[in-house]
Amino acid sequence: MIVKISLGKPQPKQKEFMLATEKYVAFGGARGGGKSWSVREKAKRLAMKWGGIKILIIRKTYLDLRDNHILPLKADLPQRYVPYKEVDKSFVFPNGSRIKCSFFDNDTDALQYQGQEYDVIFLEEATQFSELVFNVLKACLRGANNFPKRMYLTCNPDGIGFLWVKRLFVSRKYKEGEDPSEFRFIQSLVDDNQILMEKNPDYVKQLDSLPEDMRRRWRYGSWDVAEGQYFNEFDRELHTCAPFQIPKEWRRYISIDYGLDMLAAYWIAVDNNNNCYVYKEFCKPDLPIRKAAEAINNFTLKDENIYAVLAPPDLWNRSQETGKSKAALFYEAGLSLTKSNNDREAGWLAIKELLTKDKHGKCRLHIFTTCPTLIEHLPELLRDPKHPTDTLNEPHEITHSPDALRYFAIYWVSPARSASSKRVKYRQDWLEDWRNARTDEERNRLIQKYGGLPDI
Ligand SMILES: Nc1ncnc2c1ncn2[C@@H]1O[C@H](COP(=O)(O)OP(=O)(O)O)[C@@H](O)[C@H]1O
Ligand SMILES: [Mg+2]
Repeated sequence: MIVKISLGKPQPKQKEFMLATEKYVAFGGARGGGKSWSVREKAKRLAMKWGGIKILIIRKTYLDLRDNHILPLKADLPQRYVPYKEVDKSFVFPNGSRIKCSFFDNDTDALQYQGQEYDVIFLEEATQFSELVFNVLKACLRGANNFPKRMYLTCNPDGIGFLWVKRLFVSRKYKEGEDPSEFRFIQSLVDDNQILMEKNPDYVKQLDSLPEDMRRRWRYGSWDVAEGQYFNEFDRELHTCAPFQIPKEWRRYISIDYGLDMLAAYWIAVDNNNNCYVYKEFCKPDLPIRKAAEAINNFTLKDENIYAVLAPPDLWNRSQETGKSKAALFYEAGLSLTKSNNDREAGWLAIKELLTKDKHGKCRLHIFTTCPTLIEHLPELLRDPKHPTDTLNEPHEITHSPDALRYFAIYWVSPARSASSKRVKYRQDWLEDWRNARTDEERNRLIQKYGGLPDI
């Protein structure tokens, strides 16, 4: 029996998506790019080519599933030959292939699929799901046959799955066990869907008139701005810059966040107009204090002339066992720290102040493109819904670099900075006093007595 099924004509980006052979292919990243259309067309082609193949299409809600897939597929597929079975929401082809449509209201709905086998899975609007759903579905991609085993994901830069989709497909930061060659991202914007642009030019106008952060995500596919993003003023164009030689006379700081899980250190220079340039980063996990101090010193050039190494005040807490603070241990390891402030709200606001555009469209914080961790994590920080002036501490691994920047920003923006950070030339005997000082109190007394920190 020959059954004729009409197929649509893909546009260039859709074609790229439909021809991709990686195991995990993400498509879209903006609104109206022709994602759902491509899912239906690819599913039809697979079902026709591979008799007996098992295909699963997933959406978050039943209404979206019905409107984007069940109804259009019913219209496309001759119901006499490829009937739709309501009971398990499946289209059954004469060659034994099946397209099952499913919706996961809750992420835990995915657990019902544990142990099931599919050859090809389409996860529509993947960023509406947690990574758990992706992991469960990954395990369903199997079957003792020669059919391709693939997962196609469509996505917009929003929703609760923003970070995992961004990590795997956009930033391409892989964990152990993940094979980078299995992941591919094909971006498609509304401009890539000429059919929609022609048929419905108002749709583009609608996207253009959205508030700025939504427009950047849905119209231009920017992954720098998440929903609930704390630093929604962050703009890669404006706030990052290509590295350049920092003039000698600019004042330089290092600002660190230190924990055994991660050292995040930033080198920051300030020009004569108080513009701040983050020009070097060093982030490394699992460094004991001695190694951390050594790494920072090694990463600092001889003539770099650092004015102060800023650190959060909790490093001055004394350990119950040794009676020594981490700051003291850093000092013994050759790195003298200057206490910054850990008022989170004031610190975040200080960063916002540096990021904000003035009336000429200029801002005061610039990050060299050679500091990728900060550039990635700063825009990922989310607002804490319970304390809207603060950020969420989750996921913990993205907090270190912004925290280090915060210790600099509050120190820099706060008017008290000149008193606490002033450096003076110490006489030899003053320096001896300084080196002999055992506690912070003693050091603070010396700072007051000699008018500032030693200029060493
Ligand atoms: N190749 C194509 N041929 C005909 N119509 C298309 C094609 N690609 C997309 N469309 C139409 O463009 C509109 C938007 O596409 P859709 O796939 O729903 O976008 P998205 O899922 O990315 O928001 C829909 O009306 C869809 O049918
Ligand atoms: Mg869609």
